[in-house]
Amino acid sequence: MIYRTLGKTGAQVSVVGVGTWQFGGEWGVDFDQATVDAIFRTAKDCGINLIDTAECYGDHLSESLIGKSIAEDRDDWFLATKFGHHFNGNFERSEPRTAADVVKQLEDSLRALKTDVIDLYQYHSWGDDEIFADDVQAVLLKAKDQGKVRFLGNSVRGKGDSTDQIRKSSQHAMDAIQIVYNRLRREPEDVAFEVCQQQNLGVLARVPLASGYLSGKYKPGHPFDEGEMRGKWHEVEQRDAWLAEVAVIQKDEVPAGVNMAQWAIAWCLKHPAVTCVIPGVKSADQVRSNAAAVDLLV
Ligand SMILES: NC(=O)c1ccc[n+]([C@@H]2O[C@H](COP(=O)([O-])OP(=O)(O)OC[C@H]3O[C@@H](n4cnc5c(N)ncnc54)[C@H](OP(=O)(O)O)[C@@H]3O)[C@@H](O)[C@H]2O)c1
Repeated sequence: MIYRTLGKTGAQVSVVGVGTWQFGGEWGVDFDQATVDAIFRTAKDCGINLIDTAECYGDHLSESLIGKSIAEDRDDWFLATKFGHHFNGNFERSEPRTAADVVKQLEDSLRALKTDVIDLYQYHSWGDDEIFADDVQAVLLKAKDQGKVRFLGNSVRGKGDSTDQIRKSSQHAMDAIQIVYNRLRREPEDVAFEVCQQQNLGVLARVPLASGYLSGKYKPGHPFDEGEMRGKWHEVEQRDAWLAEVAVIQKDEVPAGVNMAQWAIAWCLKHPAVTCVIPGVKSADQVRSNAAAVDLLV
């Protein structure tokens, strides 16, 4: 494994982390504790120390599975979670963005994660008009003072221009940014990454496999089930356009014999602004394969 400093946090994190939206059940699989335990045992064996989760991957379900898995070795992990949504059943969320709700969510996350402190507490896709509200900021700074949160981050929305929010990071005590970045989604290269570098913000590149499309295992026309995220939220035309682009990349850019998922992860990590990637996983085998992507960096 390779480790990098996560911006102003000063924390040493593995460049490949574990993304855990999958554990909430919206990716066509219901996870049991044994599968999640195996995922984190394997992650640790591979030198991974970074976990990203959220309040709404299930109703604190992903957090709860993680909390049980790492209860014995909590201090060996850098644990990132988020706030700003309530999960109301499969594919349904509400967005109660009040200070009082953040207080409640923090306590719920600490309980689910079975921990006294969250290492990185991230705004979860908040809008420009709501994100830096004074009362929410006050609650977060108090949580830092109380030792319940070590660092603050902003997981910016997947769509639209987040540059303005990122520019205001330093004045709002942010230490890290989470942003969509992959071989199909290169928008952060325009301005966002430069701003992160100027402010020494750690960057967690999310969706590094373009929701799995960049693994190279799917062809245009693949029938994704309506019961999983890709079948539910991605229009067929958009999906097929992405998969057609992936086929060209696979032919023109991925060296013969190289696993495309590993190539896609290494591709993200080559940008100097990116600290780490957090590929979402469904199995210990995927964790092992993702961790081995670092071999393509040396
Ligand atoms: N707003 C936010 O803050 C936000 C939004 C989205 C995601 N996130 C975070 O970012 C993480 C990553 O994003 P993501 O999970 O949406 O997308 P992703 O990491 O681009 O893709 C994950 C999918 O890729 C496939 N995969 C993973 N490893 C693989 C391997 N070694 N070989 C082949 N296929 C592999 C798996 O699906 P299949 O095997 O079924 O193909 C997996 O479900 C999330 O888990 C979550 O922690 C945050």
